[in-house]
Amino acid sequence: MADTEEKNYFLRDVKTLREQAKKSLEDGAVTSDYPNAKKSIELLQSVLATEIVCVLRYTMNSISVTGISSSSVGEEFAEHAKEERQHMMMVAERIDQLGGDPNFNPEGLASRSATEYGDAETLVEMVEGNLVAERIAIEHYRDMIKYFADHDPSTRSMMEKILQDEEEHAADMHDLLVAHQGKPMLEK
Ligand SMILES: [Fe+2]
Ligand SMILES: [Fe+2]
Repeated sequence: MADTEEKNYFLRDVKTLREQAKKSLEDGAVTSDYPNAKKSIELLQSVLATEIVCVLRYTMNSISVTGISSSSVGEEFAEHAKEERQHMMMVAERIDQLGGDPNFNPEGLASRSATEYGDAETLVEMVEGNLVAERIAIEHYRDMIKYFADHDPSTRSMMEKILQDEEEHAADMHDLLVAHQGKPMLEK
């Protein structure tokens, strides 16, 4: 008896889930138990802006630095620019999955971003600017991971992957700073 009740309960549950899934097909990846997609999209738009600014900063640095005679640093900046672009795409695709339109509008970009584009001229200034930006991004991602942990494991695991890259970026910039300045600007 207990078994049958359990079975029926299970079947009813699956049926309800299927009905809900069909009903919300137009919502894309967002299911009815997703509590606040609008808030998530809003947060992800600021992450997207931050990643776009990082792509721009590293790309600009990778070109300017060649004039300061360091092709290996230029290559490192270019590599980071490539990875920031991957982050940008991951975040934009997640916004799309949640039913939002990723905001690539250059207007207001700097104010939507958590990090600055910067005005570095020397190699050391560039590395310092990137290190500060990476540290802000790391804090930003840590906060977001806590927020998404409660209700959106997919976004959370994407953020964890990006956070890992940002931590490597920060370590790379720290090493460059030590190599070119002899001492770190900030404690590691
Ligand atoms: Fe990034
Ligand atoms: Fe980064």
